[in-house]
Amino acid sequence: MTEHVRPSCTTGKLRILIRSSLFSYLILPLVLVQLCSNLASAGSPVKFLPGFEGPLPFELETGYIGVDESEDVQLFYYFVKSESSPETDPLVLWLTGGNCCTSFSGLAFEIGPIKFEQVLYHGTLPKLLSNPYSWTKVASIIFVDLPVASGFSYARTAKASQSTVLQACNQAYEFLRKWLVDHPEFISSPVYIGGDSYSGITVPIVTQIISDGNEVGIEPHIDLKGYLLGNPTTTPGDGNYAIQFAHGMGLISDELYESLKLSCKGEYQNIDPSNALCLQNMEAYNQASNHFSASFVLLYFEKLVTIQLLSNIDTAHILEPDCPYASPKPNNLFIGRRSTIQVFCKKTRELKILELAAPFTCRMDGYRLVYHWANDESVQEALHVRKGSIGEWIRCNCRYPYIRNIGNSLPYHANLSIRGYRSLIYSGDHDMIVPHFGTQAWIKSLNYSIIDDWRQWILRGQVAGYTRTYANKMTFATVKARNSHFPLLQCRI
Ligand SMILES: *[C@@H]1O[C@H](CO)[C@@H](O)[C@H](O)[C@H]1NC(C)=O
Ligand SMILES: *[C@@H]1O[C@H](CO)[C@@H](O)[C@H](O)[C@H]1NC(C)=O
Repeated sequence: MTEHVRPSCTTGKLRILIRSSLFSYLILPLVLVQLCSNLASAGSPVKFLPGFEGPLPFELETGYIGVDESEDVQLFYYFVKSESSPETDPLVLWLTGGNCCTSFSGLAFEIGPIKFEQVLYHGTLPKLLSNPYSWTKVASIIFVDLPVASGFSYARTAKASQSTVLQACNQAYEFLRKWLVDHPEFISSPVYIGGDSYSGITVPIVTQIISDGNEVGIEPHIDLKGYLLGNPTTTPGDGNYAIQFAHGMGLISDELYESLKLSCKGEYQNIDPSNALCLQNMEAYNQASNHFSASFVLLYFEKLVTIQLLSNIDTAHILEPDCPYASPKPNNLFIGRRSTIQVFCKKTRELKILELAAPFTCRMDGYRLVYHWANDESVQEALHVRKGSIGEWIRCNCRYPYIRNIGNSLPYHANLSIRGYRSLIYSGDHDMIVPHFGTQAWIKSLNYSIIDDWRQWILRGQVAGYTRTYANKMTFATVKARNSHFPLLQCRI
């Protein structure tokens, strides 16, 4: 295997030199940018991928970009060039939610050009197929493993391994700048930041940071146009809308819904312990919706695990079958509710619950395949992953501490609206983890007038969903019978 190490442009003496005078602040960085763009290439082309037959029918590049102090944060990315007109098509920086889910989820399970063949694991390397609906038909997309605790990204020091939401978002900006310097052919591309689920917090922040950087003249200038978000986590109150969603989808009765509304007054997450009627109604709600607990809908990873375990409804897509592991008396798996993903993984391994021979019916099955694929040595070699840089590759788990100190991205949407950026906010209308009602509620709270009211949008002669556009250039769209969401728990079996 060849090592693809990015030549460092900011090491040792050079950096001291840069800091030595104001003059060098102005001139040397330019020289460095030149130097780096001539000498360094962060990425390497990937022509073949194990599991995919023949050469890849699209251009893939993978690599690392070092950010932060001494580039101790090494961010791994997959770049897929637009299959139409890469010179003029938009460039999208895609952050997968989770948090700490690898961006490979976006590439292989959501919007990218490949997907796994839907079969159960048979002991051989899982097969990859083309995804004809890839967004890379119209845009170039950089899928970046961010924060540093996710995917193939890694830290070179203990200090660099820890990050907060804001640090990760600043790293995304530094990453994009360096990536553009390495890829000057994209320097004038219109840029969009995109993501789904938990990226509802990070995408607006990254977008604002880029906008701020452009305003104060940080180079390279990024031709930032806007952002895209699917079923985005946005405010702590979003989870309250699971009740309305459950009612709208026929999971609870009209009477219970009316009584819930009256007694709890719209607050179903932080219930006043003295509100007996609300508590009683919530109990009825939990019974009616198969012990699904609405108070654990959003934001907190461990709590989300609890939902999945207690639920007999796949909250990521309420029409999809629940995964086999959750079926046989799931409550017995745990004592108490403070179960962590580690406990879950250990238990499921012990009980071999994930090994149940079920037909391929769950999205979980695809997620299991990816562990066998991404942890295979030939795959990592093909992807130019640096040997020994991480231990086991995990689809969704924070390998290092990641501090989620921002729980509300609404102020960033408000700011970006004022600054005139375009945005597309879409909701798979069968997603109960971030239900569309909550998304619509925070969009309304921005107080912009509607310029194109609720109407169908059509795909191949069929209603594909509904859409509405606001005066802040924000378009909301539902995607009929879909989700943008994926269960957040993964373990290797
Ligand atoms: C929104 O923009 C204003 C003005 O640029 C800034 O002072 C404020 O901190 C921004 N809000 C957030 C949440 O970043
Ligand atoms: C929207 O309008 C409401 C009611 O007038 C107000 O309370 C709220 O602060 C406004 N929101 C924003 C983001 O301006």
